[in-house]
Amino acid sequence: MLGPVILAASRSDRMRRLVSGAPVTKQVVDRFIPGETVDQIVPVVQDLTAKGLELTMDVVGEDITRPEQAAAARDAYLELIDRLKDLELGERAEMSVKLSLFGQALDGGHDLALANIRPVVEAAAAIGTTVTLDAEDHTTLDSMFAIHEELRRDFPETGCVIQSYLFRTEADARRLAANGSRVRLVKGAYKEPASVAYQHKSQIDRAYVRILRILMAGEGYPMVGSHDPRLISIAQELARRAGRKPDEYEFQMLYGIRSDEHLRLAAEGHRMRVYTAFGTDWYGYFMRRLAEKPANLRFFVRSMITK
Ligand code: FDA
Repeated sequence: MLGPVILAASRSDRMRRLVSGAPVTKQVVDRFIPGETVDQIVPVVQDLTAKGLELTMDVVGEDITRPEQAAAARDAYLELIDRLKDLELGERAEMSVKLSLFGQALDGGHDLALANIRPVVEAAAAIGTTVTLDAEDHTTLDSMFAIHEELRRDFPETGCVIQSYLFRTEADARRLAANGSRVRLVKGAYKEPASVAYQHKSQIDRAYVRILRILMAGEGYPMVGSHDPRLISIAQELARRAGRKPDEYEFQMLYGIRSDEHLRLAAEGHRMRVYTAFGTDWYGYFMRRLAEKPANLRFFVRSMITK
């Protein structure tokens, strides 16, 4: 019950001001977002990669209102990529990007987002890595897939995310699996209406398995984005049946969630990539993490009261 309420709050400017300005215990936010600056995040990258994990890096932020903010987001990614160059991690540290942070929702936003993301994809390719386009709410997806297709003309390894809660996603998975894309499958983290998305966990999980089957049997590179132990076992079984070797798919989880499982899967010889968010505009990302597990909200509220 709490999840949808928190998700609605994640789009509210009033709540954003209230929560962002609250005396939030730094620990609560740090659990999911382990740094605000490139200087703070580089040691985290070094630590995780030294443990045999791979990373996908996210500069937090979304739903911007001015083109200058999109340019600043582009520059933040470019600064990060420049710093990663010295670590020589190649594809062990890739980027995840939300197109709404690159201006997608502004006037002429599709072209603006494409113009802003292209230099990031080019810079990533120059250091031997790549970019994955995150999936946001369903109204943004046609534009996201069009930008993905456009970028893949020059950078075929550019990835994208699909969400099992959406009715459309099985068809998207078939198209992407046939054209050899890198595709991260997740359940979906936004508040979506019943006209476009399953509303019950059991339906979303069943759809996840159907879509995973399509991706594993296809010609692309599946990225299994979930912390759900049942889906992780099913993914391993589907990969085995499809004859995929350990380097022909990967698991992905969020920083701060089931961290022991990250290490366990990596130690078993799986590719395990940790989605690591950093930056100052953490409100939307943080609220989605609270919505996924209401116990996080209780912890958060307690920390505000006891401060
Ligand atoms: P589920 O929610 O059923 O959780 C399974 C178990 O994991 C829970 O029982 C709990 O133990 C643990 N868990 C999950 N979330 C937790 C949390 N916040 N705090 C503590 N424990 C938690 N979504 C989207 O719409 N667009 C996107 O681009 C992405 N990108 C993305 C990248 C990666 C690498 C991951 C792992 C996830 C995303 N997501 C996303 C988020 C995704 O849609 C989904 O909301 C979360 O992954 C939670 O779903 P699970 O599959 O983990 O299952």
